[in-house]
Amino acid sequence: MYLNLFFLITAALSLASVAKAGTYSQCQASDSSLQGCPSGTKYVAAGTKIQTAIDSGAAYILIAPGTYNEQLKVSKNLVMLGSTKGTVTVTHSAYKDLSGSGANRDAATLYVSGSTFYAYDIVFANTADDKTTASQPLGPAAAVYFETNAKASLYNCQVKSWQDSLYAGGNFFMYKGSVWGWVDMLYGDGKSWFSGVTIYNRGCGGGITAWRGASGGAVIQEGGRVTIASDARSGTSGCYLGRPWDSKMKSSYLNTVMDSVVNLKGWSTWSSSDPRYTEGQTIFEEYNSSGAGYDASKRQLVKILTSNPYTIKGFFGDTSFIDSGTASI
Ligand SMILES: *[C@@H]1O[C@H](CO)[C@@H](O)[C@H](O)[C@H]1NC(C)=O
Repeated sequence: MYLNLFFLITAALSLASVAKAGTYSQCQASDSSLQGCPSGTKYVAAGTKIQTAIDSGAAYILIAPGTYNEQLKVSKNLVMLGSTKGTVTVTHSAYKDLSGSGANRDAATLYVSGSTFYAYDIVFANTADDKTTASQPLGPAAAVYFETNAKASLYNCQVKSWQDSLYAGGNFFMYKGSVWGWVDMLYGDGKSWFSGVTIYNRGCGGGITAWRGASGGAVIQEGGRVTIASDARSGTSGCYLGRPWDSKMKSSYLNTVMDSVVNLKGWSTWSSSDPRYTEGQTIFEEYNSSGAGYDASKRQLVKILTSNPYTIKGFFGDTSFIDSGTASI
């Protein structure tokens, strides 16, 4: 009897420690009653506009399951909660015309500036290239764009586009979820840490990371997987992990599973006519990579680390912008 009780309690405790409840789980499982939501949460019903709720000044918004065709602009502190009763998708189609004016920030499905921003369980898609049959994407088409002055984090979100899918200029943290792209899908100037994120290659072009390090930025991918997308273009293979947007780029993959879509050479210069790679200045690193896309003897330009020098706290210094109730940091 005592033994059985002991066993049950132990089993319950270990289950609880496996599934870490998110900070807003109760609210996200709610509906327009906003049960368990922070006070002042605004509810976005299907068929209405998310931007209206953003503009209302609410600090928290809960979004009903559905597809929202709109472009979101955020310039104040905001927590965007996707309902977990169904999928919440925000979608928009626009790209930066490489031959003309315009900027990728204007094409972005979600644009965030000057604030601390959180999003949970939301799909952000830029569909500009969803149907292209061309040999390269139409142009940069961000799904999410975080300005230099933003501190942003995404939890269990999907970021889907084809070129320059995600731009991070300030401090950025992504926990679980996925990023989808074809050319230079992760780019930025800031400090970014991707924890347990799956990278889906829809094609291979440029590098998965294309970073600028001149202002101290760096990008770390930790504990995730690099693989091929279910909707990848035919012949997708040989994807590079990164290429230098500037010669001070710093990009590290830690504890990452690399599927066969990854080029065994691993890393690339910017281009043969404009390499941008400077020995001792451009830092490409891998620690404990595994999978069919990894063979240390075939790697180029990279330093293979024998121990992991990074922690999330050490990397950012101040981690107060991260929801440590949801993410393990
Ligand atoms: C190496 O990475 C794998 C996941 O890719 C992880 O399961 C394992 O614990 C890591 N090993 C070390 C020593 O960190």
